[in-house]
Parts: sequence; structure tokens; C-alpha cells
Amino acid sequence: MTGPRDTLNRPLKNLRLSVTDRCNLRCAYCMPEEEYAWLARPDVLSFEEIDFLVDRFGALGVDTLRITGGEPLVRKDLPVLLALLAKKPWLKDVALTTNGVLLGEQAQALRDAGLHRLTVSLDTLQPDRFRALTRRDSHGAVMAGIAEAVRVGFSGGLKLDAVVLRGVNDDELVPLLDFAASVNAELRFIEYMDVGGATRWRREDVVSRAEMLQQLSKQLGAIEALAGRGAAPAERFRLPDGRTFGVIASTTQPFCRSCDRARVTADGTFFTCLYASAGLDLKAALRRGDDAQTIEAALRSRWSSRSDRGAEQRLALRDRGPLASAAELKGAPHLEMHTRGG
Ligand code: GTP
Ligand code: 5AD
Ligand code: SF4
Repeated sequence: MTGPRDTLNRPLKNLRLSVTDRCNLRCAYCMPEEEYAWLARPDVLSFEEIDFLVDRFGALGVDTLRITGGEPLVRKDLPVLLALLAKKPWLKDVALTTNGVLLGEQAQALRDAGLHRLTVSLDTLQPDRFRALTRRDSHGAVMAGIAEAVRVGFSGGLKLDAVVLRGVNDDELVPLLDFAASVNAELRFIEYMDVGGATRWRREDVVSRAEMLQQLSKQLGAIEALAGRGAAPAERFRLPDGRTFGVIASTTQPFCRSCDRARVTADGTFFTCLYASAGLDLKAALRRGDDAQTIEAALRSRWSSRSDRGAEQRLALRDRGPLASAAELKGAPHLEMHTRGG
């Protein structure tokens, strides 16, 4: 049977699977509060449950998987799960997004388990800035983690993601590009988004795609846009010296029209948009013993009625502030970016 199309004719190809909502950093754009409501431990899906669910998504057309968190490497025995998932012949790409803190210890095991691609978040090269931004003293661990990932080598390569914040790291675009080149990684600059736990989001703090490109072309020369983006969130560019980089402009130039991604949280809630307010409880279906066909039918029906264009709708707002307040988030952990998986 062919995979479903949603109401905007978008296929379901890409699954972002969060394996934990916990994180070992507290980045100001994601987790700025002192305290959080966490998912209940018994609700977190087992590896067997995840494995079964991933097959259901495969039957609907998913061929690309990204493991996210929170911080996925804090999930116990993650390489065991990856080994289960990476051997599925219909999955053409298995990637993981990490903050890098635990990579020094785990990069080799991840590669041995069959992980193809790795994306590490790296917002600054300066340890004191890192501490101020993340409220943890882990810059050295992240840099060592990146070095270990380079040593181990991933077949699909390494990417570095930097969220650019005004007055925080917007003077590091060129140093970050230089560092990425030194480790043979592709850097992507990400616009600050008003989603999930970004309760301190202000329009003024967003450094737009246009501003980033202007700053870079002033410092490095004419920038050429590259074709072939497909459904990817990043637009790619080339500098005069041949180096390439990406920009993810979810805030000022969303890509909802081509969005083919679904999200499943660590407790098995299925969301059809990063900004969606409600999801489908797959854990309940799994634990009451629904069979494969029943779950596939529920996913198909949900995707077929999907009309989400969350980031585009946010862009259309005149007075744009944080999507949710800290008080709202206290009672609704599923709205958090660290639960939804970035
Ligand atoms: P590849 O293109 O496959 O390498 O991965 P990716 O860019 O989709 O994944 P990554 O985890 O590196 O995501 C980068 C950033 O893009 C995230 O941190 C978000 O800021 C943004 N992003 C990811 N998915 C979505 C999405 O579905 N909607 C929007 N609006 N932004 C997203
Ligand atoms: N804006 C942009 N990106 C964010 N992330 C988390 N919160 C935000 C936000 N408010 C992204 C970061 C990190 C990934 C896991 O989630 O890029 O690298
Ligand atoms: Fe897809 Fe929603 Fe992100 Fe738009 S905001 S790109 S529809 S997940």
C-alpha cells in the first residue's frame, strides 16, 4: 500500500524519535527555567516498544530516522536500541542529534551500532560563553566529544548546529565556520525559534537568515545559494573559498510547505508538527495490545488529516512572543522542545 499524503499533499518520510526528555545542559533558548515537569518514568517506551513502533512508521513510508532527546545519549544503553533500528533494510538514513557532552565516551559504540550520521549542537567556541548559555561547565567535554566523533568517523558525515542569538554568539559566525572546516563538518546556523520552552523569546533576539548572510558576505565575500534542498530544513550556501554551510530559517522563512516529518516523544506521543498543541497517544495503543494493522491505520488516518503549518502561522502573527509561558509548560511537558525533540 502506498504511504499517506496529508491535506497539503505532503508525504510522511522522516521520523524524529525522542528517546528521553532529560538533558544534561540547560540552554537558554530551550530550557531557561529552574524547574521542569518531566515525563513519568514508567511512561517512557521500552526498546521493544520503540522497535515495534518504528516498523509501523516504516509501513507508512518513513525511510529516514533521527534520534533526538532531550539529550539522547543520557538514555541508558542507547547503542543497543540503535543496533536494533539501524539494521532495518528499509531505513536509508539513521541520524542522531546530540549536545556532544557524552560523545567522548559513546561515539565509538554509536558507530559500531550502525549510526550513519551525527549532528552536534555547538553554539560557541568560548568556554565562558558556553557556561553562561547552558548553565553547565561542559565546553571541554563537547569539544572532546567532537574530536572523538571525528576520530571514529561516520559514513554520512558530521554536522554542527549553532543557534544564533543576538548579543550572545552573533560575533562567532566566522570562527564557527573555521572550526567546522577544521573538523571537516558542515555547519548550520539556526534562527532562534519561539517554540516550546523558549519562554524568554523576543523578536529582537532573533538574528535572521538575511542578517547572517549579510554579515558573512561582508566578511568573506559573495555567497552562492545551492540548489537541491528538497524537504530539508536547511538551505545550503557556498562561500568564495568553496566551503559550504547551511541556514535553518524556521523563524523568518519557514519550510512547512515541504515538511515531511513526524515526531514521537519518549512516552510514545505522536505529533505532526513541532508547534502542534495535541498529539496521539501511541503508548496507550501499544500497552492495550493493539496489533500492527490497527496502529498503522491510526497513524495513516492521523497523517491524512494533517494540515499543520505551525511555523508559517507563527510568522503571520503581528505580535509574536513565546508560544507558551513557563506556567503553561509546568502542566504540559509535551509542549517542551526538549520533549518534542528539536
Ligand atoms: P538533516 O537535514 O537530516 O541533517 O537534519 P535536520 O536539520 O532535520 O535535524 P537537526 O536535528 O539537526 O535539526 C536542526 C534544527 O532544525 C532543529 O534544532 C530545529 O531548530 C530545526 N527543525 C528541525 N525540525 C524542524 C521542524 O520540523 N520544523 C521546524 N520549524 N524546525 C525544525
Ligand atoms: N530555537 C532554535 N533551535 C532550538 N533548539 C532548541 N530550542 C531551540 C530554539 N528555541 C535546537 C537546537 C539544538 C536542537 C536539539 O534543538 O538547535 O541544537
Ligand atoms: Fe513542519 Fe510544523 Fe516545523 Fe512547519 S512548523 S516545518 S509543519 S514541524
